[in-house]
Amino acid sequence: MLEKIQETAAFIKSKVTSVPDMAIILGTGLGDLVKEITITSEIPYQEIPNFPVSTVEGHSGKLIFGELGGKPIIAMQGRFHYYEGYNMKEVTFPIRVFQELKVKYLFVSNAAGGMNGSFEIGDIMLIEDHINLFPEHPLHGKNDNRLGVRFPDMSNAYDKDMRKLAAQVAKELDIKLQYGVYIGTQGPTFETPSEYNYFRIIGGDAVGMSTVPEVIVANHAKIKVLAFSIITDLGIIGKIVEVSHEEVQEAAKIAQPKMAAIIREVIQRLN
Ligand code: HPA
Repeated sequence: MLEKIQETAAFIKSKVTSVPDMAIILGTGLGDLVKEITITSEIPYQEIPNFPVSTVEGHSGKLIFGELGGKPIIAMQGRFHYYEGYNMKEVTFPIRVFQELKVKYLFVSNAAGGMNGSFEIGDIMLIEDHINLFPEHPLHGKNDNRLGVRFPDMSNAYDKDMRKLAAQVAKELDIKLQYGVYIGTQGPTFETPSEYNYFRIIGGDAVGMSTVPEVIVANHAKIKVLAFSIITDLGIIGKIVEVSHEEVQEAAKIAQPKMAAIIREVIQRLN
């Protein structure tokens, strides 16, 4: 696998003048963050050797190079979801390429359902930790010691210092932040009321169908992670209504400028 990763990284290096050490994954409905980026170049996923091609509605699928918060960044517009049929090695392949490109900081965003009774639609949740409920593990199989250790520590999966900085920035910008645990599930179904309730009972504040695989591989790769969920619907007993992908996209779109402001400011203050 390392050969493929190196091939892809070499291709990307050949296309850009300098390689950033910060990367951003834009989740469902959060593609508008791209408007905040001063773009220098774009590469559609289908032109990148070994990259899977994104299929789902609302994910256009390209790698964007540019500046945000005065720093060079790479952004993934569109990610690879397990429910689309990709295996975990494919879902997390871009993170391996980031590792090869020597990315140090990864910003991750997603749309999620909120189970915490104090959450409202449109809230931004800073992910403090996760619970992995995917049926396949991205590090399953023989470990390549050149990429990371066999048994990675996950006690600081969402970097404490970055979280502290994000909390401080949100306070200064007067943006309300919620905090909590993200549960990663395979989807593509949204949850039944009983499943939302179960996820709440086991310690979840929000649930979604992404992020956890990428964050696991980023930790294996020693890339520091900061991640946000936009709460697009509520899985709270008494407040559960029908959910659609369109509503999720709409709610994410409304909240995304606030999340973008936090990410931009955190990027500006890093280093
Ligand atoms: N459940 C799972 N994934 C989601 C949800 C949800 O309620 N909302 C947005 N993504």
